Amino acid sequence: MRITVLGSAAGGGFPQWNCNCRNCAGVRSGSLRAKARTQSSIFVQPGNGSDGGVDGLLINASPDILTQIQRNPALQPARGLRDTAIAGVVLIDGQIDHATGLFMLRERTSPLPLWCTDPVHEDLSTGNPVLRVLQHYCGTARERIPLDGRAFSSPAVPDLLLRAMPLSSKAAPYSPHREAQVPGDNIGLSITDRASGRSVFYAPGLGEIDERVFDAMSTADAVMVDGTFWTDDEMTSLGISGKTARSIGHLPQSGPGGMIEWLSRLPARTRKLLIHINNTNPILDEDSPQRAALAAAGIDVCEDSQVITP
Ligand code: MLT
Ligand code: MN
Ligand code: ZN
Repeated sequence: MRITVLGSAAGGGFPQWNCNCRNCAGVRSGSLRAKARTQSSIFVQPGNGSDGGVDGLLINASPDILTQIQRNPALQPARGLRDTAIAGVVLIDGQIDHATGLFMLRERTSPLPLWCTDPVHEDLSTGNPVLRVLQHYCGTARERIPLDGRAFSSPAVPDLLLRAMPLSSKAAPYSPHREAQVPGDNIGLSITDRASGRSVFYAPGLGEIDERVFDAMSTADAVMVDGTFWTDDEMTSLGISGKTARSIGHLPQSGPGGMIEWLSRLPARTRKLLIHINNTNPILDEDSPQRAALAAAGIDVCEDSQVITP
C-alpha cells in the first residue's frame, strides 16, 4: 500500500491566511525552520509501485485538492483526454477541511463514488448541502460506510479493504450534532492491502482513545493519528480562540492521557505518525523542544507529499 500525504495540516492550513502566530509569521518570513502544509487529506493506492497509473482512494477532499493534485502526479496519470487516479472519495467526517474539495472535483465525467456515514451524508445534504449542489455537476454515487466494523471496498480498488470505527471527536460547527454527537459523525479507518496484508489506522480527528480504538491502533502496521494540538489550551493561551483542544474533538499530544502516552504503549514495530497539525502547534517548528520530544518517542510528523508504505 502506498499512502501519499496530500495535506498534513488541520483546517486553515499552515500558514493560515489571517494568522500571525509565532509559527505562521515564522514560516512566512523564513525565520522558522518549518514547512508549509495544506489541509488534511491522504491518497491511498494498493501495491507499492511508484510508477503511477494505479487507481486509489482519496481519503477526505481538502479545500486544497487542486494544488495537491498538481503536486502529486500519481493522482493524474494522463491515461486519456480526461483522467484521474481518484477512483472514489472516503470521508472521515463532514468538516470543512475534509469536504470542501468535493466542489473542486465537479468536472468529473461520471458520478463521483463517495463513501460516508449516514450522519455525514445528512450534514452534507442539509447544513452544508455540497452533495445537493454537486447533483448539478458530476453528481455523486453514494455508498454507506458501515459502523459495525464490517469491511468495505471500492470495486475499482478491490485490493484495499477498509473498516470504519466511530470515534469520539466533533461534527462540524454547522452540524445539528455539533454538541450532541451521534455515532458516525467522526470515524477512524483501518485500511489493509489484501495483497501484502499491511495496514494503516488513519484518524486525523480523534478526541478520545479507549481500549477499542487502541486495539485498532495496535493491530496496524502504521498509525496516522490526530496531531492537531500539543496542549489542550493551545489556542486559548494564545488568545486566538476560547476553545480548548478537547472541546473541539482533538486529543492533545502532551501531558497525562495525551497522544504521546498512548503512542508509546504501541508495539515498537508500529510506525507512528501525526497528521492534521494545527498551525499553532509548536511541533511544526523543527527546532522546538516539543519536536525533539516526539523524535525521542519515535513519532514522526507528516509532511505534504510524503509517501508512506506501511
Ligand atoms: C477540525 O478538525 O477541528 C477542523 O480542522 C476545523 C476546520 O476545518 O475548520
Ligand atoms: Mn479538521
Ligand atoms: Zn498561526
